[in-house]
Amino acid sequence: MLCIAARLPYSTCMAPMSIIAAPSILAADFTAIGDAVRLAESCGGDWIHLDVMDGRFVPNLTFGQKMVHDIRQMTNLPLDTHLMIEEPERYVAEFADAGSDFITFHIEASVHADRTVALIEELGKKPGISLVPSTPVHAIGELLGKVFQVLVMTVNPGFGGQKLLPGCVEKVRVLDGLRRKLGLSFKIAVDGGINGETAHIVRDAGADVLITGSAFFQSPNPAHEIARLRGRHIA
Ligand code: DX5
Ligand code: ZN
Repeated sequence: MLCIAARLPYSTCMAPMSIIAAPSILAADFTAIGDAVRLAESCGGDWIHLDVMDGRFVPNLTFGQKMVHDIRQMTNLPLDTHLMIEEPERYVAEFADAGSDFITFHIEASVHADRTVALIEELGKKPGISLVPSTPVHAIGELLGKVFQVLVMTVNPGFGGQKLLPGCVEKVRVLDGLRRKLGLSFKIAVDGGINGETAHIVRDAGADVLITGSAFFQSPNPAHEIARLRGRHIA
């Protein structure tokens, strides 16, 4: 479901929307990341979601460019890099070189976010902008026509395994309304507490990309979990 008209503004990329499932390796066993990526592939994951944390923007540390590079060598799935780091503009070139397809950063972490979006575009990658739960949608209003995706955090970022904050769902609804009203086609991603029970809430609100960490990697039947994200059932 990637927009093949890569050089056109996102407003002209009117590909039909369907649910994209993006397993986050944050919840995987870090000593067996290769297995985790293969599991995501074999269970029908569409993208691999990579959570980069710096211990400053969020109170946790994960991994850097080398992890992205190494995963790039073993999969053709799009790599969806979620930078939870201060001053992301300092690192986007390295994550682009490492093989990220989509690079999403936080509006709260980049003062000159418009410039950061342009930089990601110049590097030939698709830019995304993310909001923590306390940031309102209007904070990114100027960027909506310039990004490939808006990532709505549905938990306070930093850790997997948290419960979805219901108040964040309204932002998905607002973004979906703006997308229609303005004739834009940015994707709306949701991240945090997404599982078979909560998926319908965010889908109904207009989300197209469902990121899932613990629900997928801790499931005894991860393929079923992906199907549930899409609103399907496996007999
Ligand atoms: C949280 C990360 C998420 C995380 C989601 O800060 O951005 O991508 O992996 O994990 P779950 O699905 O367990 O909430
Ligand atoms: Zn994430």
